Amino acid sequence: MVPGARGLVAPPQAERLVKGIVLAGGAGSRLDPITRVASKQLQPVYDKPMVYYPLATLLDAGINDILLISTPQDLPRFESLLGDGRQWGMTIRYAEQPAPKGIAQAFLIGADFIAGDPVALILGDNIFYGAAGFDAVVASFRTGALVFGYPVRDPERYGVVELDDDGRVVSLVEKPEHPRSNLAVPGFYLYDGKVVELTEGLRPSARGELEITDLNKAYLDRGELRVKRLPRGLAWLDSGTHDSLLEAANFVATIEHRQGLKVACLEEIAYRKAFITEAELAALVRTMPNSSYRAYLETMVLGEGGLR
Ligand code: TTP
Repeated sequence: MVPGARGLVAPPQAERLVKGIVLAGGAGSRLDPITRVASKQLQPVYDKPMVYYPLATLLDAGINDILLISTPQDLPRFESLLGDGRQWGMTIRYAEQPAPKGIAQAFLIGADFIAGDPVALILGDNIFYGAAGFDAVVASFRTGALVFGYPVRDPERYGVVELDDDGRVVSLVEKPEHPRSNLAVPGFYLYDGKVVELTEGLRPSARGELEITDLNKAYLDRGELRVKRLPRGLAWLDSGTHDSLLEAANFVATIEHRQGLKVACLEEIAYRKAFITEAELAALVRTMPNSSYRAYLETMVLGEGGLR
């Protein structure tokens, strides 16, 4: 049984559940001086801290066993914000990344947590909105690595993947000067239990980091990298600059005002996905101060007029 999960059918013994890592460290230098106060992933994106969005993506995908990695300075703030995750039917553990030595370093830091199981890594500043079908992808994930491809206007800022007509990977390049496609690889990746061993085999890049693109190439070399194109109807936002942070906040506000429904409301997702019961949600809401966030849960999720 998944720790804290209720109402879920226990998986067969042989089936390994996908764990989740949220990588929420980094320098956040582009957001200076905001990030002198607290790290990027603790900054607000409209009505909730940024880290709620990647956590919501994981929970919505059915992943509730989580390791959150951040800097030694910021880790205590994440712990006081998120606790052990029990309130959302999650188990959240914490680990330090002493210095930003690359995204793939998450797998070395999290080696004991992973313990040979499949794992999803999500970057703490990546925001997804829309019907991505991540839950089905996670549920059917077994071996190798799976990353996504998403069309962007400025692929040179990202890892860029080129696919042939059959969807096979032709090339994968980190921040190419002359991108061979417009498909960026978003900060949400799935790996099997070999990920720790393959990361151990990586060498730091010229900028001194263990590159996630090098890890993906190691899977590619073994013929074990799959790329799934995300639909253009899905929104993938990152929020690493002042403008993109404001754009993300405006985007969330626009959707929420239009629908009257919240994006990335962890309490709501936990309840709808049956990670917590209605009684547990009601008890949790009673602990909240009066705010529009509480009012939303009272009226739209628990209330008579609410959606079920
Ligand atoms: P980046 O946006 O590439 O870097 P950053 O957050 O340090 O910001 P800046 O470039 O402005 O200095 O990182 C992407 C995400 O990955 C972000 O959520 C931070 C996280 N990250 C780590 O936690 N550790 C790392 O070693 C790296 C490279 C990134």
